[in-house]
Amino acid sequence: MLTDVATKPLPGPKNFFGLKNIRTLSQVGMLKFLADCWHEYGDLFEIQVGPQKMTAVIHPDHVRHVTLTNAANYEKLESYEPVRKYVIGDGLVTSTGELWQRQRRLMAPFYTPRGVQEFADIFLRDTLLMVDRWQKLADQQAEVEMFDEMALITASIVLKAIFSTESDEDILAVKECVETMITYAGSSASNPFQLPDWVPTKRNLAYWEARETVHNYINGVLDARLALDEADYPNDLLSKLITAEDAETGERMSRDLLRDEALTNFFAGYETSARAMSHAWYALAQNPGVKARLHEELDRELGDGIPTLETLKRLPYTLRIIKETLRLYPPAPMYAKDVVADDEIDGYLIEKGSTILLLPYFTHRHPDFWDEPLRFEPDRHAPAAEKARHPQAYHPFASGQRICLGNHFSLLETHIMLAILAQRFDPQLLPDYEAEFVIESLLQISNGLPMVLQRR
Ligand code: HEM
Repeated sequence: MLTDVATKPLPGPKNFFGLKNIRTLSQVGMLKFLADCWHEYGDLFEIQVGPQKMTAVIHPDHVRHVTLTNAANYEKLESYEPVRKYVIGDGLVTSTGELWQRQRRLMAPFYTPRGVQEFADIFLRDTLLMVDRWQKLADQQAEVEMFDEMALITASIVLKAIFSTESDEDILAVKECVETMITYAGSSASNPFQLPDWVPTKRNLAYWEARETVHNYINGVLDARLALDEADYPNDLLSKLITAEDAETGERMSRDLLRDEALTNFFAGYETSARAMSHAWYALAQNPGVKARLHEELDRELGDGIPTLETLKRLPYTLRIIKETLRLYPPAPMYAKDVVADDEIDGYLIEKGSTILLLPYFTHRHPDFWDEPLRFEPDRHAPAAEKARHPQAYHPFASGQRICLGNHFSLLETHIMLAILAQRFDPQLLPDYEAEFVIESLLQISNGLPMVLQRR
């Protein structure tokens, strides 16, 4: 129930139809625009961009309200339409209501901390392949684009985990086509003046072609799999999805849903992890003290050996570096919800039909919750410190019921990748290089991350 004070309008850069905001956004970019607004208006503010009103949510108490206490009022509706329509259909990132509940229940067991251990071997194998590649590149003192390097591993990992795909050619083709689809959905969302998708423009044709390639690929794998005896299924996610049965009805997923969920896993799981890893290399190069402690831990616990699930437990500092990277440079710096009915937060009116922008990037830098927020300090994630902090002060994987399904997958993956690669290599930034972070839909480094590989 709304109280009278809830008519208090939200502060924010008010201007006619948000036209000035659109101009400022295109001039300074989303990251600086939001940072300036936070500085000027505080933890809860409204920005209007064209006809759309968006409320920025930064304070952990407000994150809790939107994602937990009153989560039923904050759904994934219009904001997710371009991704639903153009990339993943009814996959878990975009589905809602009963469909989402059933699918999440069916898939959750594969992604528990224990469930994802089944993929450790793939994480290890793909990272060791990268070690071979990097040894050659290091001998040539080659400069690499670090994000591309990390994306090669994470795309290969996720495709092997889902489909047991081993062909490098297939991995590259699917990765490129999904990238085309994601870019298309992003530009359709941000530019309402695009021609309709059925007009045969170059951009539209490229999209439909990419989509067909991806769907054909998945349909081919599905046909081959369904032709096998179930006893002969390989142990990958697709097999698990095909055979998963609803506990109440005994129903299995339809073919379309299998395709959408498989595609969703790839969509949600490869670029995010690759960005996390490349941001970690950047942070390590900037923080020699942290890097020295990492090397000390790896040398002491692993020597020249290859990590196992057992030895990983003895590499807590390595994992804290990943968690601190996700704090200071969260690959998903914002995520959205659509407001179902009028609501009140701290006496302010949150209007039905508006959009909530949850902003982990800024929550993670909130000075009331983080000491010296700009300092890269992995020990913030020591168990006692994790327990002591506000649970919503840290939400790199979102918060509440719709928390990232792949969070344990991704933490184990990046833990293994960092352990193996930092055990053998010490990538160096170029002299005078400074990263320019920008928020697209993910957090990215707009000037790239060129690094020179050096053996340790
Ligand atoms: C560092 C890596 C990752 C980060 C930072 C991340 C972050 C997130 C965030 C913020 C959300 C909520 C998005 C929203 O509400 O719009 C999300 C959802 C999701 N993520 Fe991740 N993710 C990562 C890796 C992965 C991986 C590896 C997978 C799969 C293997 C995955 C699968 C999913 C799925 C299926 C959802 C939707 C969950 C639901 O709505 O029930 N993610 N992720």
